Amino acid sequence: MAWSPFRPDVMQDPANGYGELLEACPVHRCDAFDPPFYTLSRYADVAAALRDIETFSSQYGQGPRFTPPMGMLCDPPQHTFYRGLVQRSFTPRMIENLRPRVADLAAELIAQLAAQGEGDLHDEFAFPLPVVIIAELLGVPTEDLEQFKHWSDVQVAAMGARDPSVYAAEQAAFMDYMRNQLRARRADASRGITPANDLMTALATHRDNDAFLPEEQVLSVVNQLLVGGNETTTSLITNAVWRLLQEPERWQRLVADPDLVDQVVEESLRFDPPVLGLYRNTTRDVTLADQTIPAGSKVLLHYAAANRDPDVFSDPDCFDIDRPKRRHLAFGLGVHFCLGAAMARLEAEVALRSLAAHLPQLALIDDGERIGPFFLWGRRRLPVRCH
Ligand code: HEM
Repeated sequence: MAWSPFRPDVMQDPANGYGELLEACPVHRCDAFDPPFYTLSRYADVAAALRDIETFSSQYGQGPRFTPPMGMLCDPPQHTFYRGLVQRSFTPRMIENLRPRVADLAAELIAQLAAQGEGDLHDEFAFPLPVVIIAELLGVPTEDLEQFKHWSDVQVAAMGARDPSVYAAEQAAFMDYMRNQLRARRADASRGITPANDLMTALATHRDNDAFLPEEQVLSVVNQLLVGGNETTTSLITNAVWRLLQEPERWQRLVADPDLVDQVVEESLRFDPPVLGLYRNTTRDVTLADQTIPAGSKVLLHYAAANRDPDVFSDPDCFDIDRPKRRHLAFGLGVHFCLGAAMARLEAEVALRSLAAHLPQLALIDDGERIGPFFLWGRRRLPVRCH
């Protein structure tokens, strides 16, 4: 059967299809989705498309459906403006300053897991860690955290769903909540109340030519931080732990030498990228490998397949933490390169170091199961034993 992201063996493990794409079908048309889309898989083609933003535009969204230009999900100059606004809160120093809080939270979650003796590494560790950190950064009140975590989950589930209307009511409730947060901050600012030092306040009260930014645009940026940052970082942590525990001697190498953690994180990003690929919209006809992609098409840039391209990575299907550093595409490339890459790396590094230090006997109970959306890769559950 021809490759499709929905083929059962590819849904179970997308790596089952990389060889076919790379060798036989570097430009693939998928008619099993509405709208149909093309897939590029070779490293050189994916990287070239990421650099050519005039031909491979983000103006109609980076997801599988056509959406209006919102927040950072578009082309320059709007993209440059909103990205610049958020980037101020993601400087290397600000990210590094998060380290002690991430370490404390990781230690707290690990202590709970250890006390239970076993548990779900996804639900009880890898999921709460990034959500709590981003919620604190945004300034979401602590009492709303559980609800916020739930909404974060809903956003991800809706993204790849064949029928996203199932999630519409919950998504609307989340947007109402964030809108109220934003309006409260604007009201405080107008009354001269000293602004809180959080990202939501910075975005809500930013003025351009003396006017606040359009509400829907600010909400889209906040949403992108959530959707782009939470499940992805959760998946990075669960994917890395899962791969290490599949061969316990790998886990024991990290336990014995925690400074391997950076190599583990980078190889995990290459081998099991949490975002398998994202979309662009062609602004003109493009001919590649003797095939023409018409203007106005959705094109999936398959980062995960590109990360297994033998022209760039030797023995690409081997998970090898000793691999010499090469630039993988797990965070994309070019103007849309992941804004949260440093934050994700820091959280994953702290998470893995803490687990290796406090739970050296960690073991898999079973492989759990894959999360839903076809262009994301992570575990929905990862049952582990601690001792
Ligand atoms: C392992 C974790 C993560 C992965 C694998 C990941 C992956 C990606 C990828 C592939 C892109 C490029 C989008 C494109 O090419 O269209 C991207 C963009 C982005 N990511 Fe991440 N991300 C992660 C974590 C985060 C975190 C923690 C945040 C923030 C809290 C974040 C925020 C963003 C934003 C705002 C963009 C859009 C940047 C732009 O369009 O200019 N990401 N991410």
